[in-house]
Amino acid sequence: MNILVINGPNLNLLGVREPDVYGSETLIDIENWLNEQPEADSHSITWFQSNHEGELIDHLHEAMGKFESIIINPGAFTHYSYALRDAIAAVNIPTVEVHLSDINNREDFRKVSVIKDVCLDQISGLGKIGYLKGIQRLVN
Ligand code: DQA
Repeated sequence: MNILVINGPNLNLLGVREPDVYGSETLIDIENWLNEQPEADSHSITWFQSNHEGELIDHLHEAMGKFESIIINPGAFTHYSYALRDAIAAVNIPTVEVHLSDINNREDFRKVSVIKDVCLDQISGLGKIGYLKGIQRLVN
């Protein structure tokens, strides 16, 4: 399977950013770790990160015809970007929403995901393992 992993704003700062919440590993550490997992072996996995809503949307559009599935951690856009939600719905590629932290047990504004309904599943609070679970969910 051709899988696109999209990470949104501030996730480029993993490892430095609020390590008590998001851990001490960088996004590259997580990417390398995922690539080493046996479950990843049979897939082609492409990573993309941007801090810009429009770039994330452009990348979703460009995924059409290229990727069979998407794992997305939209960062704070999760909670209010209807444009991102519409893009996920528009491209119609099976998508799993992943969050490192448990968004349901933090501030109230994080409990709302405007993309949840257009994704196959939401995986939250498992740290980097969430990305692996995302692959497993897409395979099944
Ligand atoms: C996050 C949770 C969001 O609320 C936050 O804005 C992020 C990261 C997570 O992975 O836990 O940037 O998506």
